[in-house]
Amino acid sequence: MTEPGTGRLAVSDLTVAYGGALAVDSLSLTVPAERIMGLIGPNGAGKTTTFNALSGLVTPRTGSIRLLGEDVSTLPPQARARRGLGRTFQKMQLFDSLTVGENVALGHEAKKADSRPWRHVFASKADRISQMEAAEAALELCDLEPLAGERVGALPTGERRRVELARVVAGEFTVLLLDEPSSGLDSSETQQFAAVLRQVVASGRSILLVEHDMALVMEICHYLYVLDFGKLIFEGPPAAVLASPEVRDAYLGWAADEAS
Ligand SMILES: Nc1ncnc2c1ncn2[C@@H]1O[C@H](COP(=O)(O)OP(=O)(O)O)[C@@H](O)[C@H]1O
Ligand SMILES: [Mg+2]
Repeated sequence: MTEPGTGRLAVSDLTVAYGGALAVDSLSLTVPAERIMGLIGPNGAGKTTTFNALSGLVTPRTGSIRLLGEDVSTLPPQARARRGLGRTFQKMQLFDSLTVGENVALGHEAKKADSRPWRHVFASKADRISQMEAAEAALELCDLEPLAGERVGALPTGERRRVELARVVAGEFTVLLLDEPSSGLDSSETQQFAAVLRQVVASGRSILLVEHDMALVMEICHYLYVLDFGKLIFEGPPAAVLASPEVRDAYLGWAADEAS
């Protein structure tokens, strides 16, 4: 599963340094088609930094990043997005005064945005139709159709989190990097979120998921990568990760404290 060079997203020997400190240290991982892969580990382990390097926001010291077979390691963020790499941020970024449908429709623009933003002003009728269709499909996948006309600012966290997900789904990316997408949800909201994530991968997308909710991670991830101090300390299917004494020492006690 982790053979280098295979998978929709294939990361090999990724190292990111801030000053002298290594935030990510020789990390290799693979995201195959239509899978949910988990990236877990304590606060400060390097998960968000990994996402920043994959999406092109920070420049790694070493490593190669292949997206759909193409080396994108030196491409800027928008070029990676246009090739199918989408992400969400740890801190929610929604437009509270806009409706659910409007927030989600904006996600479609994210993939197309390039160095000539004025082009949006002259969007063709065909562009507007494809934007509407992508937004409708995303709303349906994320169980948000009945809420399309609601103002986002008025919604509870569980629904806001799904709007955030729907917005990146509307970008029609092939691989989604999701950074703690279900944080702040109660257990019934988390269950619904899990069902929605399954629908999203069943629609043909792949997900690399950073998440602290171990119940959710164990339930929906096919395979896990465990980071500690920037290093991969374990990888395997959820059951093997749970059974690993090393992971238990480094992370699981910490995650249980976080959850309580
Ligand atoms: N912009 C930055 N400048 C310097 N150090 C950073 C920066 N961002 C993160 N770090 C450091 O890199 C390490 C990994 O952080 P981060 O990737 O945010 O971890 P995680 O997302 O797993 O909690 C931490 O030690 C953090 O303090
Ligand atoms: Mg983080």
